[in-house]
Amino acid sequence: MKIFQIIIFTAFLCLKGFGQLKVGDLRCENRTNPSGIDINPPRFSWKLESDRKNVKQTAYSIRVFSEDKISWQSGKLPGSQSVFVPYKGPALVSGAKYKWQVQVWDNQGNESGWSPPSYWQMGLLHAGDWKAGWIETGAASDTVNGPAQRYRRDFQAKGKIRSATIFMSAHGVYEAFLNGKPLSENKFAPGWTSYGKRLQYQVYDVTSLVDRGTNALAITIGSGWYRTPLAWNNNRNLYGTKTGLLLQLVLEYSNGAREIIVTDDQWKTSDAGPVRASEIYNGEIFDDRLADEDWKSSAFSANAEWKPAVKAPISMGNLVATYNEPVRAHEIFHPVHIFKTPKGELVADFGQNLVGYEELKLKGQAGERIVVNHAEVLDKEGNFYTENLRAARSENIYFLHGKGQETLHPHFTFHGFRFIKISGYSGDLKNDDLSAVVLHSDMDTTGFFSCSNPLLNQLQHNIRWGQKGNFLDVPTDCPQRDERLGWTGDAQAFSATAAFNMGVHNFFAKWLKDVSADQGIDGMVPFVVPNVLGPQAGGSAGWADVSTIIPWNMWLAYGDIKILSDQYPGMKAWVEFMHKHSTDDLWNTGFHFGDWLFYRPFDDNDGRSAVTDKYLIAQCFYAHSTQLLINAAGRLNKTDDIAYYTALLNKIKAAFVREYLTPSGRLVSGTQTAYTLALQFDLLPENLREQAARRLAENIRDYNDHITTGFLGTPYICHVLSRYGYDSLAYRLLLQDTYPSWLYPVKMGATTIWERWDGQKPDSSFQTPSMNSFNHYAYGAIGDWMYRNIAGLQMDEQEGAGYKKIIIKPCLSEKLDYADCSLESVYGTISVQWRKKDGKLNLLLRIPPNTTAKIYLPAMTLQSVMENGRPLGEQKDIALSETKDKLVILETGSGVYQFSSDIPK
Ligand code: BGC
Repeated sequence: MKIFQIIIFTAFLCLKGFGQLKVGDLRCENRTNPSGIDINPPRFSWKLESDRKNVKQTAYSIRVFSEDKISWQSGKLPGSQSVFVPYKGPALVSGAKYKWQVQVWDNQGNESGWSPPSYWQMGLLHAGDWKAGWIETGAASDTVNGPAQRYRRDFQAKGKIRSATIFMSAHGVYEAFLNGKPLSENKFAPGWTSYGKRLQYQVYDVTSLVDRGTNALAITIGSGWYRTPLAWNNNRNLYGTKTGLLLQLVLEYSNGAREIIVTDDQWKTSDAGPVRASEIYNGEIFDDRLADEDWKSSAFSANAEWKPAVKAPISMGNLVATYNEPVRAHEIFHPVHIFKTPKGELVADFGQNLVGYEELKLKGQAGERIVVNHAEVLDKEGNFYTENLRAARSENIYFLHGKGQETLHPHFTFHGFRFIKISGYSGDLKNDDLSAVVLHSDMDTTGFFSCSNPLLNQLQHNIRWGQKGNFLDVPTDCPQRDERLGWTGDAQAFSATAAFNMGVHNFFAKWLKDVSADQGIDGMVPFVVPNVLGPQAGGSAGWADVSTIIPWNMWLAYGDIKILSDQYPGMKAWVEFMHKHSTDDLWNTGFHFGDWLFYRPFDDNDGRSAVTDKYLIAQCFYAHSTQLLINAAGRLNKTDDIAYYTALLNKIKAAFVREYLTPSGRLVSGTQTAYTLALQFDLLPENLREQAARRLAENIRDYNDHITTGFLGTPYICHVLSRYGYDSLAYRLLLQDTYPSWLYPVKMGATTIWERWDGQKPDSSFQTPSMNSFNHYAYGAIGDWMYRNIAGLQMDEQEGAGYKKIIIKPCLSEKLDYADCSLESVYGTISVQWRKKDGKLNLLLRIPPNTTAKIYLPAMTLQSVMENGRPLGEQKDIALSETKDKLVILETGSGVYQFSSDIPK
């Protein structure tokens, strides 16, 4: 090409904007290249990338390939939808792999090229696709505290392999190998679900692991949640008494032939491995003398100790593909300190309360017995403290093989700990010999928050670590004591904050299926999910409302309408449950936890305990759930339900007023939680709201700016204060650092959120060991206010789910000089940074393509507002909406914006 032509061509490309619009982060069912999708049709999401301002998608085109041939093309379709776009091609084939790409067009005449390809693989869509059946071990030792069971089988690969896929699940938790190589980095597969109704299977592409000739499949199964004791009443064998394996390996040869290897009686089983016992709460016994690797290899020949597997006639009707991210290992910590306690015990401090397991590099005598115990805290004297673990032994025992250095860790248990105590080791320990490996579901980190106050930054750190520690396949209350259960109240309270810090869409979508599965036919929602407490254990206000609150929060955070439609029957059934148990629209029956762990001083002569009437709380949540049901009905166009439940909601509110409010506006419980819930859920007549907010503010001042709420009031109190004009009081509450407050534990050296405001007292003594977790995320629900109000990152909840319509509304305080936050939304990165200096505010924003933003900029005058150093009038990309209350309200599309203004006095 001649130089002249090149210049013309380049100029043409520039004019067309070619190259300025790209598309990336392709996801199928919100995961990158997932294997084993049984959502049919699956949905696609992508993100636009462009440096230009105000970029919006105007059209898109998707193409799907099967076996490298195009199997579906959507053609160019007009529209701005770029998240959860359903596949509309020909029927998808069970187990088949697909490649897909997307191309987009924007409102400025740009066209992206085709995106780099992405992939997904379908799960098994029909019951008949399972050719395998369940097998169990032939070993008699397969009992709850017996050894982990080994399952193995050789198979021949009779030619060149084009593709090999394993579909598998287990009763128990498994580690799986092909020719000695792990199938994945996953831990604790198949995860925890309400096994009787839903058991997840996993799908692994093992093409690269299969050798020509003989191959070996080797799987170890530990008891896991399936049968180790769960809950404090020592409930063992909850789902079954025996481990089991279900596996189907599909081999596709280059010549087109297909072969399926399944679990059947050709498998051999043994109990001779090193994991001699493993329990979730109590820990593991690991004998390294038995840790041979050869049984995983094809060269191994099973001796008489290996018993044939037994076919088990177990129903396959509960199998579902895995929807959420697997549990994986993440950070690795080394001790900050190894020391002897006053009692003379050898203890290592990892500096962070975390969830996972220890890894030890040891060198000692054959048979040397090493015991490792776990603790979250040291007591007042500096001794290792485990009383708050209650009946959970949380103890790993290792026997050394004694043949040089050995690296040891447990396989089928996890612990919540910051400290480990090591007993029985004859050698010396150096920092590098000890690690703590962090485990949690492999969710993306999506949110960051920081500001000029180091204590708040530590609080944010603690909230994040509370989340990591308790998002291990199921949202648990705590990770350390004999509980670790999916407490529904805790999960709903924390869910909005969780969706800032991490990508929890798939995590909660999966768990909500279990919430529905365990919901009673009368609509009752259990206290814990999976429900291990029995069919009567449910129906508490604020706990059971998980069934409406989390679907709604997930809809808002990710814009996935399917979560709402899938959960809608459960939402409605729960509202109907309350309806049925109400008299004259007042729900005042049944057991309720109430405002769990509210402030309650020991010597309470003045009645300072913040006790809120439990039925008042129940009525508030009855109204809230009904409102969320109406909201969901609106999104799903269920007009009859909207009308019906709106009428019901009016009656619920009227009943609340009749029963709990005096004519002058006083609530029967004069607590922070009572006023907070009544205001947050709009239960009071409009004309009595301001005075109720004033009473709330007075109550807080009466406690010298201390919080007295429990699990149910805490998530909302600062939101209510902000809504009614008490921002500075909300800040004072948040920045309070004496008990009870969010920062008191921070000042006491906490590295996670505590279960109680005073888990450790100022004199370093502890709250009662029967209820004193140091890693319990519920009070971390304040994170939502920090992102939304301090940094100011919100959304238009009416029309902007998934942050399609962003609202930026920072709440400045004389107590902070700056705040930063960012969120990787389904549309891309949103970030907000504000700085105050010399009476000026600087606000730096990033708004992703295909979204819009409304910005509430604090400004003394409109004239003082500049963007990128230029007056607003010169900015064609920014529209002025209005000015009011010392706020300049602007509207923009995507792009990076740098605003400055004079801070209002
Ligand atoms: C759990 C909680 C839970 C509560 C119910 C506790 O044992 O740890 O967090 O919500 O019971 O009140």
